[in-house]
Amino acid sequence: MRKPFIAGNWKMNNTRAAALELVNALKPLVADVSDVEIAVAPTFTCLQDVAEALKGSNIELSAQNISYAKNGAYTGEISADMLKDVGCTHAIIGHSERRQYFGETDHDVSKRVRAALDNNIIPIVCVGETLAQREAGKTSDVVLGQVENGLSSVKKEEAAKVVIAYEPVWAIGTGVTATPDQAQEVHAAIRLKLAELFGADNAAAMRIQYGGSVKASNAKELLGQADIDGALVGGASLKAADFSAIIHAAK
Ligand code: 13P
Repeated sequence: MRKPFIAGNWKMNNTRAAALELVNALKPLVADVSDVEIAVAPTFTCLQDVAEALKGSNIELSAQNISYAKNGAYTGEISADMLKDVGCTHAIIGHSERRQYFGETDHDVSKRVRAALDNNIIPIVCVGETLAQREAGKTSDVVLGQVENGLSSVKKEEAAKVVIAYEPVWAIGTGVTATPDQAQEVHAAIRLKLAELFGADNAAAMRIQYGGSVKASNAKELLGQADIDGALVGGASLKAADFSAIIHAAK
């Protein structure tokens, strides 16, 4: 039985004071939730303060990216050691915004995934097609290719730890959500690919989140699909009440 996993990707929002206000408002709203795994992913500059605020709570801390390198001359990068040092247990990797605006490739993703796993950080690996790719009938090719190449550094025995987030690019921040059927179809295809790569038992254990305009009003139906094991939430994770409603919908 896969435990649902709801994570909030704050993207480039919130200074430290706003970040603290948000998590302090969120904590009591979800304090009674034990059957859903919960994480927030603030910007790097807020991680330490948010980690302090989350101590003793049921909310985990994720970074929005992680360097593939251990340390050294990598200006602007943040290493796995540094993330662990401030209390991160998870890292989002290969978000479509990183791919789109910062040129990240599946090869970069696979290296970052390796660095995360080597340091006991759970990778949340994002995949998803653009609207043009969907309209050209290439959704499966694109998404399954990203899964296979992005996870090429993952060993069979560690696969069950990895989280995948299927985020159709056309649904991110647009208010247009994939229908539950559209999402389920891709999630099922991803799970088949995971079975091919890592075996049926690992594939059955791996969580696949959906992301793209998830809100309280559509969460229940999406999360009710057989292969949708949680959500990676952008905009709606910036309001404690909205994010909490999504978490409660996953119960
Ligand atoms: P929105 O929920 O704002 O569409 O963002 C989704 C996302 O990109 C989460 O990583």
